[in-house]
Amino acid sequence: MSGIVVFGAQWGDEGKGRFVDYLASKADVVVRYQGGNNAGHTVVADGVTYKLHLIPSGILSKGKACVIANGVVIDPSALKKEIDYLAERGVSVDNLYISDRAHMIMPYHRELDALNEKKLGDFKIGTTGNGIGPCYKDKVGRTGLRMCDLLDEESFPEKLKKCIEDKNEIITKVYGGDPLDYEAILEEFRAHAKYFRPFVCDTVSMLQEYKEAGKTMLFEGAQGMLLDIDFGTYPYVTSSHPNTGGVCAGAGVGPQVITDVIGVVKAYTTRVGEGPFVTELFDATGDAIREKGHEYGTTTGRPRRCGWLDLVIVDFAAKTSGITGFAVSRMDTLGGLDKVYVCTGYDIDGKIVNTYPASLETLAKAKPVYKEFEGWSSDLSSIRKYEDLPDAAKTYIEFIEQQTGVPVVMIGVGAGREECIYRGL
Ligand code: IMO
Ligand code: MG
Repeated sequence: MSGIVVFGAQWGDEGKGRFVDYLASKADVVVRYQGGNNAGHTVVADGVTYKLHLIPSGILSKGKACVIANGVVIDPSALKKEIDYLAERGVSVDNLYISDRAHMIMPYHRELDALNEKKLGDFKIGTTGNGIGPCYKDKVGRTGLRMCDLLDEESFPEKLKKCIEDKNEIITKVYGGDPLDYEAILEEFRAHAKYFRPFVCDTVSMLQEYKEAGKTMLFEGAQGMLLDIDFGTYPYVTSSHPNTGGVCAGAGVGPQVITDVIGVVKAYTTRVGEGPFVTELFDATGDAIREKGHEYGTTTGRPRRCGWLDLVIVDFAAKTSGITGFAVSRMDTLGGLDKVYVCTGYDIDGKIVNTYPASLETLAKAKPVYKEFEGWSSDLSSIRKYEDLPDAAKTYIEFIEQQTGVPVVMIGVGAGREECIYRGL
């Protein structure tokens, strides 16, 4: 049996989808363990581009079981839309399994997300507006609604009524917003119950059976390490644990199940939303990377902030998540520049720091310490062997390995499924 975790080692959008897609071909089951439809995973398979938000990218590999586990927050209307989107493209969802323990994102969560961001004004988080934070807040506050609640036709109306009454009080009295209509929401969710019943099951027992049968499991993370609620740039984070620690709690498996941890690293750095970003570029190079890399959000369409590779955060991700191998994406996008730079430490009040600080005030003072590298050609898409990469690109990859002590096991050289160099795994 093996259990492979693949997750982002930066601020999300590292290009996880394509590596997950590849690793899924080796797995029997693909599991999403945290986050919700704030994720946007783009996978190009057989020349067709798919944009996924909640459904594991493994759905594109025929015959794989795909699990949306208990740690994920599910917006039923968004999930239904995604299932329809796949069906229109001839992709079957017969193998999709949804945890009965997963919490639901309710209409009031989306409403509260928007109202709260508006109230925060200049201090807004820059969320995706999908109700993720308010839903996890209810989960931890023990006032959430789960998929198993949805399916219980007798008790659900009463539970929903109580939730809506409570939330309407907050929406109207705290934010001055309009109350939500219980009857309309009940009707909508009755339809959801009917639609989702065939998908919902005890995914904990299911994964246990896979484990006992010696099958390979792939755990697909959304967002990234620096958006982790504990280790990210708090409060400019998401409300879940994208890191390896999130796998056990979010899927209901023991740590022994995990054999490999793949951290996906973009060859440069991007971030959407607010919050510190030490290597951010505000110049023409940053704009050029954004345009060349089509660095606009899959979920919200927002332009992504772009900057040089920051090894302080990547090393932090490796250490806090036990990363055993990196998958480096977008080497082609970074190509074509004369010189490229990698941040190896932060200068904070004249002291060089190599660990990621907790305090935003400290981070605000951090100036990146850069090492300069020669650039390489951007036309790498036909390369399949590491030896065939331009020397400058190899030097760059080997520097990442030296600085972090973690091998680079996969290298993306183009957008297509096959445009990748595999070195083990
Ligand atoms: P994938 O899986 C990049 C960011 C938002 C915001 C913060 C909180 O595509 O890599 P939330 O809606 O989660 O409460 O927003 O987290 N964020 C992402 N950034 N990629 C993502 O997912 C993200 N999901 C959330 O921009 O800064
Ligand atoms: Mg994305």
